[in-house]
Amino acid sequence: METEGQIITVKDLWKIYKDNVIALRGVSFELSEDKLVILAGPNGAGKTTLIRVMDGEISPTKG
Ligand SMILES: Nc1ncnc2c1ncn2[C@@H]1O[C@H](COP(=O)(O)OP(=O)(O)OP(=O)(O)O)[C@@H](O)[C@H]1O
Ligand SMILES: [Mg+2]
Repeated sequence: METEGQIITVKDLWKIYKDNVIALRGVSFELSEDKLVILAGPNGAGKTTLIRVMDGEISPTKG
């Protein structure tokens, strides 16, 4: 994950919890300041995990 100017780039982000629970499986996307993005997905899709990794609350396994 890197930040350049107003753009956030997430590249091949993985989060594997204990007992081999794969919460994020190589997530990649770019965010720009002028676009609204909605994070949607069913229960357990990894939304909360993604936000926690992006705000530094937890570390990614990779990426
Ligand atoms: N602290 C944790 N330890 C182990 N596994 C976890 C932990 N937090 C989440 N998981 C698992 O990781 C996967 C993704 O969960 P996450 O909470 O990120 O999804 P979510 O999209 O936020 O779901 P919801 O819509 O229910 O809030 C699920 O399989 C969940 O059981
Ligand atoms: Mg959640």
